[in-house]
Amino acid sequence: MKRIYYVSRFSDTLRPEDLEKIFDISARNNPQNQITGFLVCLGNTFFQVLEGPDKMVDRLFFKVIVNDTRHKEVLCLKSESGMTTRLFPDWHMKVFDLNAGGETLPFAFSQMLTALLESQYVIAQYTQPSVFHMLEKGVNPTLVSPCKKIATVFFSDIIGFSLFSQWLTPGELIEVVNSHIEMCTQVISQHGGEVTKLTGDGLLAYFSQKQSDAAIAASLDLLQEMKLRREKASGKSPLRYLYGGVGLAHGTVYEGNIGFALKRDFTILGNTVNLASRLESYTRQLEVRLIMNQESVTSAKRQWKFISLGKHRLKGQSSASEIFSIQELGRLNVREIYRVIEEEFSR
Ligand SMILES: Cc1cc2nc3c(=O)[nH]c(=O)nc-3n(C[C@H](O)[C@H](O)[C@H](O)COP(=O)(O)O)c2cc1C
Repeated sequence: MKRIYYVSRFSDTLRPEDLEKIFDISARNNPQNQITGFLVCLGNTFFQVLEGPDKMVDRLFFKVIVNDTRHKEVLCLKSESGMTTRLFPDWHMKVFDLNAGGETLPFAFSQMLTALLESQYVIAQYTQPSVFHMLEKGVNPTLVSPCKKIATVFFSDIIGFSLFSQWLTPGELIEVVNSHIEMCTQVISQHGGEVTKLTGDGLLAYFSQKQSDAAIAASLDLLQEMKLRREKASGKSPLRYLYGGVGLAHGTVYEGNIGFALKRDFTILGNTVNLASRLESYTRQLEVRLIMNQESVTSAKRQWKFISLGKHRLKGQSSASEIFSIQELGRLNVREIYRVIEEEFSR
């Protein structure tokens, strides 16, 4: 058996008849599907517990509820499986409408619940997707054992960021950083990668062992998106000079929980991660937009037009190794970008 706890918001203003409809549907479907639990409704926010056979709970939550257009911001808080008894055997969906009667539950309790739910939504925005996927699967991320795996590490950051940071207003600076993060997270998730960390103006992500081509495709899409964003930016917007460099390194990474109670990260580390970061910094020196290691090239299946950038001994490496880019990306005149940023924004 499985039990899922989730919160969500009603996409419209919730009327008593809407709640009645949900109640009727639940009363009809849940006994057939052996689902029990309860639903708390507070303002436009719901908190629901669903328990029953694994398949039925998964179907109701992941297929039906998550796709119900009346819901938005559905957030799984916890998932448990393997239990043999129900917590709410008699409730085929007991509904607590906290809006209906202040007497049902004391005002103070409903305030507490609102604050808790609000904080869950805020925290969710700061939590990386991989941690949420674990919670949804019923895995406690803090108990996951570290593991070693092969991956393609993706590292991207903004060219000329320290120049920007000298002259832009805080609002402009955050706009530049957020645009970069937004584009990166979009292309990375579209190509099946995982963003693990924001590193100020940069971002660390990874793709699984079999996704070498996806990592390259995501890098090209990101650089193309940046070009479009620059062309669309108007007037004095600093986005007209938003350029990024990308480093890709394929190799062994270690994944696990780093840190303790006060600050914990579920992330990847190891030489491959350092290498991706160094390759990314090296884009400035070699004046290219993307640099990848030999293993990224050999593990790719698609027919990319790779170009060799020669053999280089990067910081921390014992010997020189050949690095590559993609032909169609051409060169990048980094000094010219620095010069224009300086000219435009040093007031
Ligand atoms: C907050 C909320 C809770 C819901 N809970 C249940 C539930 O426990 N069981 C259920 O079958 N449908 C529930 N629904 C409705 C489903 O999202 C979906 O509309 C319904 O299952 C479709 O049923 P039908 O295919 O029989 O029309 C809920 C909807 C909302 C907005």
